[in-house]
Amino acid sequence: MANEKMWAGRFQESLDAVADKFNSSLPFDRRMFEDDIEGSMAHAAMLAKCGILQKSDVDLIMEGLTGILADMREGRLVADVGEDIHMFVEAELTARIGEVGKRLHTARSRNDQVAVDLRLYLRRQSLEIIELLKALLASLAKQAAAHADTIMPGYTHLQRAQPITFGHHLLAYAAMLMRDISRIEDAVLRMNYSPLGSCALAGTTYPTDRAYAAELLGFDGACENSLDGVSDRDFVLELAGAFSTLMMHLSRLSEEIILWSSWEFRFVELSDAFTTGSSIMPQKKNSDMAELVRGKTGRVYGNMLALYTTLKGLPLAYNKDMQEDKEGIFDTVDTVKDCLTVFAPMIETMTVHPENMLAAAKGGFINATDVADYLTKKGMPFRSAYKITGELVARCIADRTDLSSLPLEVYREYSDLFEADVYHEIDLAVCVARRTSYGGTGPESVRHQLQLLTDYLNK
Ligand code: ARG
Repeated sequence: MANEKMWAGRFQESLDAVADKFNSSLPFDRRMFEDDIEGSMAHAAMLAKCGILQKSDVDLIMEGLTGILADMREGRLVADVGEDIHMFVEAELTARIGEVGKRLHTARSRNDQVAVDLRLYLRRQSLEIIELLKALLASLAKQAAAHADTIMPGYTHLQRAQPITFGHHLLAYAAMLMRDISRIEDAVLRMNYSPLGSCALAGTTYPTDRAYAAELLGFDGACENSLDGVSDRDFVLELAGAFSTLMMHLSRLSEEIILWSSWEFRFVELSDAFTTGSSIMPQKKNSDMAELVRGKTGRVYGNMLALYTTLKGLPLAYNKDMQEDKEGIFDTVDTVKDCLTVFAPMIETMTVHPENMLAAAKGGFINATDVADYLTKKGMPFRSAYKITGELVARCIADRTDLSSLPLEVYREYSDLFEADVYHEIDLAVCVARRTSYGGTGPESVRHQLQLLTDYLNK
């Protein structure tokens, strides 16, 4: 009996074993068992409220579903037979409470059921991911607070550009991650409408109350069009997009951490607990966690693109192709959670080497802009100041020196606007401290950014 199909009435032959396995989504959709049962309970409550089922029957159904939920949570019951989690739960219910269990599927279809389950599941996961993101933000905030004054070279084109602080650099990622949270929240807002009661596609002849079921499930309302309710998966795509952007941000930070950990930079050292050694080279300490985050970004992008491609040619309403909406986003959710879980402590336990950052900042003429600004503030047009400074840099390269050590007489060969105060003006700490413009790298500005982040995390 276990494997007799729900639809057996119309069929003379049973499903081929190979086709049965191919058709089944149970191995992956059983992770939605809590959402499926929650959805069924709301549906049953609605059926009772509207007088579609008798209260006594619904009481039995609720009791049966409560028992199944508890048994599955405790691992006493494992979903291992049936085409999908919806059929498994219904069959189990009927096995437990008898004929009454067969009444649950009144005024509903698996098409609206699966759409509800997936929304409930993704809402739950999205909230967990937001919490993980906040933990990562807290780790970034700690490091940024400790390094609001730590000078490092800022880069463009991976060439040393201007001095910045390490705190400022980390807070740039914090700003990106806060937007990631906002993108996920936005997607959840749009997703938070209930398709339940759309039934197979056309709605139903029963006097249902979709708004009531939606409210029980914490939705903001019911989807307005039943065809849309069962057909679209844009909510999956939006989240897949938000998660892809999040992974892109994590991947860029990973790339920097990998660079910074190299002997060429030595800006940071990841803790032993978040690095690995080599099987052959005894000296190696590899940033495997960061590399994996960078690497896993590819599969998250891939999952998004796969679903876009799956959906693009589908006529309304439900098509079995849509069963393919799940594995990719499940993999994405797992991947994002794993990455965030490893990332936060990796950042928090990372040792920063301010002395190496400063040494790097002293090379590469990163105070050249400040030399030009010095002349400009003394009245020279910026373009002329820029040209003279370029000549000074060339002179330093020829003389194997830098702008801080170049003698004043040499400066004055290029412009008599130069005076002894130039050395103070182009001191790296002064260059950084002066960048007090809103959002800039000056410690004062960085502390303001940090305060905004702290307020955000505490609200
Ligand atoms: N397992 C199916 C899925 O994931 C559930 C919906 C099945 N509906 C149907 N008409 N065959 O999409």
